[in-house]
Amino acid sequence: MSDTSNAIDAANLESVLITGCGYIGTALAEHLLQKRVKVGALTRNRMQAARLIKLGLSEVLVDDLDSDQWHERLRNSYKMVVNCVSSAGGGLVGYQKSYLEGQRSLLKWACGAQPDVICYTSSTSVYPQNTGDWVDETATTEPMTERSSILLQAEQLLLQDKAFMGKKYVVRLGGIYGPGRHYLIDRIKGEEAVLPGGGEHHMNLVHQEDAVRGIIAVLEASLVNKSDIFNLCDAEPSTQGEIANWIASRLQLPCPKFDPMKKSPRMQRSNGSTPDRKISSKKITNLTKYLPKYPSYKTGYLELL
Ligand SMILES: NC(=O)c1ccc[n+]([C@@H]2O[C@H](COP(=O)([O-])OP(=O)(O)OC[C@H]3O[C@@H](n4cnc5c(N)ncnc54)[C@H](OP(=O)(O)O)[C@@H]3O)[C@@H](O)[C@H]2O)c1
Repeated sequence: MSDTSNAIDAANLESVLITGCGYIGTALAEHLLQKRVKVGALTRNRMQAARLIKLGLSEVLVDDLDSDQWHERLRNSYKMVVNCVSSAGGGLVGYQKSYLEGQRSLLKWACGAQPDVICYTSSTSVYPQNTGDWVDETATTEPMTERSSILLQAEQLLLQDKAFMGKKYVVRLGGIYGPGRHYLIDRIKGEEAVLPGGGEHHMNLVHQEDAVRGIIAVLEASLVNKSDIFNLCDAEPSTQGEIANWIASRLQLPCPKFDPMKKSPRMQRSNGSTPDRKISSKKITNLTKYLPKYPSYKTGYLELL
């Protein structure tokens, strides 16, 4: 069992607005609906909106988070907001639009609506460390790419906002995998199983369901601090080589090869270097009731294989 001695009064989840409702947002909506929470969503994606309506959300707006026009279109009120917008392509301009301008628009709305909590899903990519050691939320953040720098700016916008009086939480997610999202398995199964880089850096992964469990645990926790940051990854960061070899052995395929001369798009964006650190998620485990279902990539990937 996790230590919940620092968590006070689990808040009653009543109503949650999810902005940028895609892979994580939809799974979150499903979990919340199971808990009989009133859920609303905003997405710019019409097909996604149709799926959400079918799920039974009380309100689904199709709009750009970064435009202010949705403020007036929202019919219901919500006690909590989870902003899990992503840029989903669109390069740097898309990052600025969805993360930064999106957060600005959300805070402008929140200044009037004053929900109790805003929770923003950021990324562990804000940690630049490359010694392979453990890092927690107290570690330096100096993003290696302009994209990660925008994620950090969006965190700061939320955490430093003075007009919104509610609680502000940032959940820094590791690399998300789960049903329908298993890039590494696909690459290993693919005909050309040569992976970019040397495979020595640690991967910090989180299963879709654990990302949802973590976000809900933060919403429910009624934490003492009015604003806080939590890492959310599994408890067994391992090198890309170790993970790739483990997957290959389960599939009874030869160990995949790595080509240090080959650079992934992410490596290209950070001038060829990849951060190498093991991200600790002890804080969320200690301060909330978060209990991961997939504490190791092995249990998570095993289901997907
Ligand atoms: N993927 C990862 O491994 C990873 C790692 C660390 C952190 N994160 C963070 O985790 C969160 C959730 O990621 P995810 O995988 O669920 O992302 P996702 O599947 O791409 O979902 C994001 C949703 O937001 C919508 N959206 C994008 N820009 C918008 C805008 N300006 N206005 C309204 N809607 C907008 C997208 O619509 P479209 O479909 O039209 O684009 C999509 O439906 C994000 O904040 C992401 O930064 C992800």
